[in-house]
Amino acid sequence: MDRYGTVNANALVACSPEEVVFRRVQVSESVWRALLASRTAGAAAVAPVTDPAASEEATWALYSPLLAETAAAPFVFAQIGQSLDGRVATVSGDARDISGRGGLEHLHRCRALADAVIVGVTTALKDDPRLTVRLVDGDNPARVVIDPKGRLDNDAALLRDDGTRRLVVQACARGRPAGVEVVRLDEKDGRLCPRAIVAALAARGLRRILVEGGGLTIGRFLDAGLVRRLHVAISPLLIGAGPNGLVTAPSARLADARRPVTRVFGLGGDVLFDCVLD
Ligand SMILES: NC(=O)c1ccc[n+]([C@@H]2O[C@H](COP(=O)([O-])OP(=O)(O)OC[C@H]3O[C@@H](n4cnc5c(N)ncnc54)[C@H](OP(=O)(O)O)[C@@H]3O)[C@@H](O)[C@H]2O)c1
Repeated sequence: MDRYGTVNANALVACSPEEVVFRRVQVSESVWRALLASRTAGAAAVAPVTDPAASEEATWALYSPLLAETAAAPFVFAQIGQSLDGRVATVSGDARDISGRGGLEHLHRCRALADAVIVGVTTALKDDPRLTVRLVDGDNPARVVIDPKGRLDNDAALLRDDGTRRLVVQACARGRPAGVEVVRLDEKDGRLCPRAIVAALAARGLRRILVEGGGLTIGRFLDAGLVRRLHVAISPLLIGAGPNGLVTAPSARLADARRPVTRVFGLGGDVLFDCVLD
């Protein structure tokens, strides 16, 4: 394992819960620039930070695994922000401020490191997100919405032309505005195969893929065994009701539940569980 515990996820030290070490992430401009440069140059060029202060090391340890090589296979990671009681929005659909400032900046960093960001159509309909990088330096990833039945209107924010690639994955013949790439896939039992979605994006040059939500969409990619890193950012608030976080295939017994190697990071007031699923 290198001193940052990164790049080769297999080299990470597995932590049992009682051994979890909490690391506070404070992202300096120089480390963020180094990460963006490594993203551009390819994972092979990932260079360790020059100032290995504890906070810099935590930043490097958190983000550099997201720069894993994609030549052999696309790299899929997911991030979700939720409350203490596992909700990702209120019943009325208010989802904007679940994550604190640190959690939101983290989300924008994840976007900036990705080639493409995916959301399910329910998120697109309820939140009308822009999916751009606004809170940190970096380029916007291509925006992808999974909309099998063509429910999303063509004036949705994420389909607007701002110079960023926009894609709709659908199983129907609905027309889309000029410049929006349509990825037509076949449904099976009302579902599109996540592996086929990743393959279609990779064929279009989008190989580092962030699945941003909602919980149902992330769950499908998780259950298909495609997610290599899962970031769950927990904010200290109780909502009481509302859409669930991750929706995955249930385990009948706790002994059967997945227990990924997990590292814990502080993002301002939010706590991030970084789960290694390789
Ligand atoms: N806090 C956060 O980090 C965060 C992030 C994102 C979203 N959210 C919240 O999450 C809520 C929505 O989440 P959600 O889980 O209900 O829905 P979702 O994941 O946003 O969208 C689910 C829908 O997307 C389509 N879909 C996704 N994957 C598919 C696949 N493999 N095959 C076929 N269809 C697929 C289906 O559309 P059809 O129903 O048309 O078949 C499915 O019902 C919103 O309230 C939003 O605010 C929170």
